[in-house]
Amino acid sequence: MTEPKYIHVSVAWPYANGDLHVGHLAGAYLTADIFARYHRLKGNHVLMVSGSDSHGTPISVEADKRGIPARQVFEHYHERFLLTQQKVGISYDLFTHTDTENHHRIAQDFFLHLLEKGYLYKETQKLMYSEQEKRFLPDRYVEGECYICHYANARGDQCDNCGNLLDATLLINPRNKAHPDDKLIIRESEHFFLDLGRWEPELLAYLAKHESHWRTNVVRFSRNFVADGLHGRPITRDIDWGINVPLEGWEDKKLYVWFEAVMGYFTASIEWAKNIGKPDEWKKWWYNPQAEIYNFIGKDNIPFHTIIWQAELLGVNGIYNEGDDTPLQLPYDVPANEFMNIEGDKFSKSRNWAIWLPDILDRYQPDAVRYYTAATFPETSDTDFNWENFLNRVNGELLAAWGNLANRMLSFSYKRFEGKVPTVDLNDLTAEDKAILEKAEAAFEQIGGLLDAVKLRDALAAGMALVRDSNAYLDRRAPWKTIKEDAADAARSVYTVLRVIDNLKVLLAPFLPFTSQKLHEFLGYDGQLFGEQKIVEYQESTRGHKALVYDGSKAIGKWAKSNLQPGQSLREPAPLIVKLEPEIVEKERAFLGQPRDEQPIVV
Ligand code: MF3
Ligand code: ZN
Repeated sequence: MTEPKYIHVSVAWPYANGDLHVGHLAGAYLTADIFARYHRLKGNHVLMVSGSDSHGTPISVEADKRGIPARQVFEHYHERFLLTQQKVGISYDLFTHTDTENHHRIAQDFFLHLLEKGYLYKETQKLMYSEQEKRFLPDRYVEGECYICHYANARGDQCDNCGNLLDATLLINPRNKAHPDDKLIIRESEHFFLDLGRWEPELLAYLAKHESHWRTNVVRFSRNFVADGLHGRPITRDIDWGINVPLEGWEDKKLYVWFEAVMGYFTASIEWAKNIGKPDEWKKWWYNPQAEIYNFIGKDNIPFHTIIWQAELLGVNGIYNEGDDTPLQLPYDVPANEFMNIEGDKFSKSRNWAIWLPDILDRYQPDAVRYYTAATFPETSDTDFNWENFLNRVNGELLAAWGNLANRMLSFSYKRFEGKVPTVDLNDLTAEDKAILEKAEAAFEQIGGLLDAVKLRDALAAGMALVRDSNAYLDRRAPWKTIKEDAADAARSVYTVLRVIDNLKVLLAPFLPFTSQKLHEFLGYDGQLFGEQKIVEYQESTRGHKALVYDGSKAIGKWAKSNLQPGQSLREPAPLIVKLEPEIVEKERAFLGQPRDEQPIVV
């Protein structure tokens, strides 16, 4: 037995300015969850954290649009994030938010630490200012043509088309997003900058050390970012929604949302440790050179997670670990996914070209949504969510190949073998029986290797290949025929296939946790493969908001071969997967591009 590892699963913090959609699931949340569940089954120490990104212009622009305070927008969507993610089974040890006292305090500590060590400097910036509104218009308040790729609707801080971080004053034909006819002028304002350039040698050494196990798109983007020159990055903003700059005279400015949101991986780990009553427990990941930190993000977030966050961590090295010179851990891997388009077109909130999770989780099983999303993960290039494809893959693969295999054999065994796994002597299994069992057992290493390497789509495909092999085995052995003339032989094949199913239950559990749990029970076992996800009140002062937590204390699932006992009592089986009707394709397509019926935020 190898020693359990410490695996930190840092998941991008969703802006709390709208519901979660399949793009979120495909980009970061489901990948992170599959990876975390696998490592928990392996017996590793997993700490998976994230939360609502509650600050910055993404929230305040939405609030302005609705004419309500920014806090209301964040609170509304935070609440919904908890419910949605509980429903689809994203098993965070802690899903919190960036408006906690804990996060504010630590973010300000980081700032002061960096300032004291000389890693921040002040500079006067030329910024976009609205004469009409009498205020600066940072980041998303401004839109215009990208001066790099010439995309027409680039935002002030970043271009969604080419992914580059932008300077709003350089946009071609910049406009006030809320008032397109507003006249913008350039005005000066003083800000703090993070001195990225001084970390160039360390960042290059860091990339060199890790790039061999990183995805090529992540390496390419990061290398280009450094090659373009590491310029200082402004980390404060002229805005009234966010974390205070902890200095006198800076009352009308806030910390830039990206400067503090990435710190959430760290601050949430500390909050988690406090909540479980072991306030130093977070150090087992952050101050442990053997720990591995994985950042699950979408490709638009790459530079923040491969360069800027590293510079912040290098700058505060040693924080809260006085007297110990173990280095603070930098991310080990940043497996960024590309985008998932919808029916051939880019996601767009304004055009409602989106598939909203709260809506589809009302209509489909969480594992159907998980299955299709994982099978089409945009790991190496953009992919497409297509409803006809969804229908075909759920009905043809998840239901016909996997669900029916399990249901047919459980029902057959339940009816024909007195509610039990057939009683057989394992020494009597045929060569063919042994061959399929060996294949199922070898899959732990094969699929495990793919999951370790964050090749989740290939891992699922390998699991489904084993499902197909099991169906082929069953067709050849045909126990429903042999039971008439040779009941003992039928018993052997039914036993074998149930044992293969018991293996598949574990192999597919990271992807299909709800189905695997049901199967576990039908097979006659007790207990939970995974822990429980609960929505809880905070334990420290966090302005009354709730959090989603994972309690793994009773989980018994193990990434290990089945040892199914002949004669084990089964529970009465029921269908695992719901069949989808062909009508759903047109029904779902009709929602796209139409105004969405969304509950108003009640203030
Ligand atoms: N809120 C950002 C987005 O949705 C992601 C923030 S990731 C974090 O694109 F690291 F900053 F938290
Ligand atoms: Zn661009």
